[in-house]
Amino acid sequence: MALYALGDLHLSFQADKPMDVFGKEWRNHEKRIEKNCNKLITENDTLVLVGDHSWGRKLEDCEADLQFIEDLPGKKVMIRGNHDTFWDAKKTNKLNDIYRGRLFFLQNNYYPYGEYALVGTKGYCYEGKDSREHADMLVEREAKRLKASFEAARADGYEKFIVFLHYPPTELGEKRSRFTLIAEAYGAEQVIYAHCHGKARFHDSLMGNVNGVKYSLVSGDYLGFKPQLILG
Ligand SMILES: [Fe+2]
Repeated sequence: MALYALGDLHLSFQADKPMDVFGKEWRNHEKRIEKNCNKLITENDTLVLVGDHSWGRKLEDCEADLQFIEDLPGKKVMIRGNHDTFWDAKKTNKLNDIYRGRLFFLQNNYYPYGEYALVGTKGYCYEGKDSREHADMLVEREAKRLKASFEAARADGYEKFIVFLHYPPTELGEKRSRFTLIAEAYGAEQVIYAHCHGKARFHDSLMGNVNGVKYSLVSGDYLGFKPQLILG
């Protein structure tokens, strides 16, 4: 049994959104995702997809992309990304009903993995695209959602946690944030995140061991679309 993570699949089986405009590492990226997953992951393993799954705006525009994810080996757990407009955070239960036994949507809940609880939410960090006030409001909302995920797991007796965020846990130049403090407070062992594309952004946030928590970036182009082993 092993735990893997990969972010930013940016699938577009129902949309005309060629990804290779973003560089040659995106050429046929879905074929490479499929090949790498089939090589690495077995049916006993769990794969967490760390957001930005599909370019589709509504659920009906994402069905082929979600089918592709469903067909990957192992159990699939998903985190919301900034592009995942098909997934209304308040309607996560509905998505979990529709995809029960096929995909798990992690939001205000948790996913059991052995003695660990996989917890998480989209997260947020200021990137200069909105006002500081707006960013602060989103960070607060996401922090609340992350705590709800931890609390759901704790209520069921879990004491070991792995955190998944779509956004990096800190903004550029920050050493700590609402999210790192929450991860530390609950004793999380790892924080996994995605969203950072292109060499210039790969080192935007924390990596490696910081205050007893291990941080890893798992964005698709950073990993060459090969899922990262999180727990062996
Ligand atoms: Fe993103």
